[in-house]
Amino acid sequence: MNTGQNTAIVGLQWGDEGKGKIVDLLTAKHDVIVRYNGGANAGHTVVVDDQKYALHLIPSGILYEDKLCIIGNGVVVDPIQLIKEIDTLRDRGIEVGDNLKVSNRAHVVMPYHKEHDAALERKLSQAAGNGDQSIGTTKRGIGPAYADKVHRATAIRMGDLLDPDALLSKLKVTCSIRCAELTALGVDTPPLDPIALADEFSAYGRRLSPHIIDTVYELHDVTKEGKTTLFEGANACLLDIDHGTYPYVTSSNCSSLGIHAGTGLPGRHVQNVVGIMKAYSTRVGAGPFPSEELGEIGERIRERGNEYGTTTGRPRRCGWLDLVAVKYSAMICGTTSIACMLLDVLSGFDEIKICIAYELPDGTTSTRFIPDARKLAKAKPIFETMNGWAEEIDDVTSPENLPDNARAYLDRISEYLELPISIVSVGPKRSQTVI
Ligand code: GDP
Ligand code: IMO
Ligand code: MG
Repeated sequence: MNTGQNTAIVGLQWGDEGKGKIVDLLTAKHDVIVRYNGGANAGHTVVVDDQKYALHLIPSGILYEDKLCIIGNGVVVDPIQLIKEIDTLRDRGIEVGDNLKVSNRAHVVMPYHKEHDAALERKLSQAAGNGDQSIGTTKRGIGPAYADKVHRATAIRMGDLLDPDALLSKLKVTCSIRCAELTALGVDTPPLDPIALADEFSAYGRRLSPHIIDTVYELHDVTKEGKTTLFEGANACLLDIDHGTYPYVTSSNCSSLGIHAGTGLPGRHVQNVVGIMKAYSTRVGAGPFPSEELGEIGERIRERGNEYGTTTGRPRRCGWLDLVAVKYSAMICGTTSIACMLLDVLSGFDEIKICIAYELPDGTTSTRFIPDARKLAKAKPIFETMNGWAEEIDDVTSPENLPDNARAYLDRISEYLELPISIVSVGPKRSQTVI
């Protein structure tokens, strides 16, 4: 990656690839760090010295003192969660003031969005006679908030929190509609009170007002000043609403394609795209996962990799690396280099498998990914087997000190993806990184 250029960090699997760690590392080389999609469904872990930070809405660059962090217009913001995150960071001695800006056009996640998300999931899990149809969402209200954005008239944006009268008049209509919907979904709650909600959310607006600005102009201004930007993707390419394993996806464009709409910066502003991948695969929630290991191997990866959700604490489903899927994501995202994360977790396996193609129900094989959940569920993985390595590698810092078989594994990944691996991660800390 060249200095003086903008960089995108994007997950190439189903999330939790270790994006937070790489954003933290690369923040040192950039001036501005921007979230462009998703909301508090994201959970990005950064470990600095012995301190562990879990960030959901605030860009992971906030841990550096002199960087500008921006929550772009493409994000859906839960103000309650945002204020909690600001307070938690401040309690831990991290400065959050002028260095955090939030788009006045970012949409607000309201309490009824979270209720709707949970109620719909409950309903779908009991879909009469059709088995469990739920997505396994994080219940953070993400889908309903983005749905409101598309519905338009009922949506609330961060800028609306600064105008109490306009907010109240909007909520008077929205609350009655949402109430009817929640009742239809079987939620037994008292009617939503627009006056109380307007009071509560105007108070959040007052609290957050120093941060709420037109981030599109801000980003263009800092770009003109010659500052460099790091785009922090949330969720991941295979969860992208257009390009993921629909319908088992999230509700935003979480591939790098979401950057431009989600920030207001056009395409020429992204020069480097670092695709983040685990050395194996994980997925939280429902949906097809061809290389999933349901037995002892999956369990071993989960325990060694501590594969439990940063946001919901749910155990992550685990399996071997699926290079068909990663290559597809790398193509969609315009990836220019790869960061291969959690390689240390694979130490101690005699053999390691890589999915290099799928066998389809008609007996043919495909090296193309199938971004259609029903069809992908019928694809069987075709594995290549490589020799593992016994050595623990969590203190390795240069490529020559990796075991030969670990290097061969990385070489095979790079060859298959036709991309250079620029970073290898062997532990959660900044220092546990091979560049
Ligand atoms: P993100 O959502 O992509 O930022 O990833 P998460 O933070 O949800 O999950 C990644 C987890 O792996 C976190 O607990 C990280 O601290 C941890 N982690 C990151 N890189 C490594 C690594 O190379 N090895 C190990 N063992 N853990 C890592
Ligand atoms: P980070 O940024 C892993 C998954 C959920 C669910 C689906 C839809 O930490 O990598 P949603 O609440 O978005 O409507 O859920 O998407 N999902 C994630 N899985 N990491 C994430 O974010 C995710 N964000 C959403 O588990 O299957
Ligand atoms: Mg995560």
